[in-house]
Amino acid sequence: MAEPKIVACINLKGGVGKTAIATNFAGYCGRKGLRTLLVDLDPQTNATFSCISIDDWEEHAATNGTVANLFGVRSHTSAEGSQKSLDTIIRKEVWKNLDLIPSHIDLFTIDLELAGATARETKLRKALAPIMNEYDMIVCDCPPNLTIPTQNALAVCTHYVVPISPDFLSAIGVGLLLIQVSKFCDDMQVEPKLAGMVLSRIGRPAIHRQLTKNSLRERFPEDVLDSEINERVAVSEAVEQHISIYQYAPGSPAASEFSAMSEELLGRLDSEE
Ligand SMILES: Nc1ncnc2c1ncn2[C@@H]1O[C@H](COP(=O)(O)OP(=O)(O)OP(=O)(O)O)[C@@H](O)[C@H]1O
Ligand SMILES: [Mg+2]
Repeated sequence: MAEPKIVACINLKGGVGKTAIATNFAGYCGRKGLRTLLVDLDPQTNATFSCISIDDWEEHAATNGTVANLFGVRSHTSAEGSQKSLDTIIRKEVWKNLDLIPSHIDLFTIDLELAGATARETKLRKALAPIMNEYDMIVCDCPPNLTIPTQNALAVCTHYVVPISPDFLSAIGVGLLLIQVSKFCDDMQVEPKLAGMVLSRIGRPAIHRQLTKNSLRERFPEDVLDSEINERVAVSEAVEQHISIYQYAPGSPAASEFSAMSEELLGRLDSEE
């Protein structure tokens, strides 16, 4: 059986639409019939709450465990050091054909906890290895930094996607991000491919925004996707109801934009083989 595509959604910058893109891309893949797993690696737990309610998360975290168990966060490990099994941690079918590894706020201290741990960057790779063949697509939503959770995503992913909001500060951070990713991957001897940059959360038309978009397309002509995601209120409304944009507002401009972006991304993931 073919290995799954593993896509990490990353950026050092916060609030650029990483989670909206990771969840709705994963949701799109599921609706298309791909067996999809969404891994929430951000202690903010935003991808988790985009898919399930806080009550459902509380119950699941207490009984079944979360990504914090996979990383061996101390308060999530029993006295004997035993771990919850991955099968228990995965919440099945949160959306159509989409399973979820929920996150936990305790992941915030993971860098301190694992400071002296061996193989701390490959914990996720090791944890996912036994279930790789059960999925066609695995999508990792990362926090806005390059700490251990993101490093784990980079160490296991086949591709990474960089959402960028077209404003000055977001745009200047992209070069820095690419350098840091490249250094880390070199150290780890892994070679994930940049699947693309997605212009995201684009506000109402403004000259400075258009100039920033143009300059990003000029700097990275091969990498910036043609599809763009505009700022639309339906996106946050769908999150509040824990459903995908396709289910919340089928046929809407927001759903069309996320569909077009997902199709383009899938094409890029396939074309690089
Ligand atoms: N296209 C969009 N239109 C309107 N709102 C959006 C859009 N994309 C994301 N949002 C909203 O903007 C906020 C930030 O988006 P999101 O959480 O996807 O960014 P992020 O990059 O994951 O942030 P963080 O770095 O904190 O993880 C959220 O409230 C989200 O619902
Ligand atoms: Mg996020």
